[in-house]
Amino acid sequence: MENKPVIKIKNLNKVYANGFQALQNIDLSIHKGEIFGLLGPNGAGKTTLINIIAGLTRKTSGEVSVLGRDVEKDYRFTRSKIGLVQQELNNDPFFKVREIVRLQAGYFGVPNPDDQVEDILKKVSLWEKRNQGGRTLSGGMKRRVMIAKALVHNPKIIFLDEPTAGVDVELRANLWNLVKSLRDQGKTIILTTHYLEEAEELADRVAIINHGQIVLVESKKDLIKHGSKLHDIYLEVVQEKVVVEG
Ligand SMILES: Nc1ncnc2c1ncn2[C@@H]1O[C@H](COP(=O)(O)OP(=O)(O)O)[C@@H](O)[C@H]1O
Ligand SMILES: [Mg+2]
Repeated sequence: MENKPVIKIKNLNKVYANGFQALQNIDLSIHKGEIFGLLGPNGAGKTTLINIIAGLTRKTSGEVSVLGRDVEKDYRFTRSKIGLVQQELNNDPFFKVREIVRLQAGYFGVPNPDDQVEDILKKVSLWEKRNQGGRTLSGGMKRRVMIAKALVHNPKIIFLDEPTAGVDVELRANLWNLVKSLRDQGKTIILTTHYLEEAEELADRVAIINHGQIVLVESKKDLIKHGSKLHDIYLEVVQEKVVVEG
């Protein structure tokens, strides 16, 4: 793994319009070719952070760059390097699977888009479903359409925002394999999850985020060395969350 940051975040803060501070003084560098697991309970700020890096949400203060370019000033450049699989299922139900992915290819100006769409639909096992309308797909298929959309322009950096929340065991296993194969192709992957075991299984490094603050960042190597440290810290975080909600 090269040690060159593809994403650099310095002193990032996000305060939403209603005054709620969702992110507080975030400092983080993500390196080329790693799977970075962003672990935290619901409401911790995972989606907010990803959306700021992908340019969907504006930061309040701080610096966020992708491949050395500012995500707001150089939005078109940085967005073109990112494949984003959002947390919420959001495909247009009136288009067919192939059309949904083809539109996205067009948006990014993908060369030979029809071939690329075919290739990517085969990779996520959706080619057989290419002429089905979005409305007629199962939840797992909808998730795979979103992944195909996110990958169609061959991005260097891939964000998966809770890709396995609420999916069945088989799709979860498929997604884990897909993530590993993307890493083997040299992609940088940022995965958010509230499942501890998912972060442990997939990630080369894990960060825990809670109440908009990064509580811990550690490599898999160090996690193994320190045994149960990740478990203990995360259990504390989740415990506290339960108390707050209860
Ligand atoms: N548009 C918004 N306006 C105000 N608060 C928001 C908005 N979006 C998210 N939040 C709040 O910010 C916090 C972090 O949300 P989010 O980033 O979605 O967390 P996560 O993805 O970790 O579950 C939550 O408390 C959420 O309610
Ligand atoms: Mg989220």
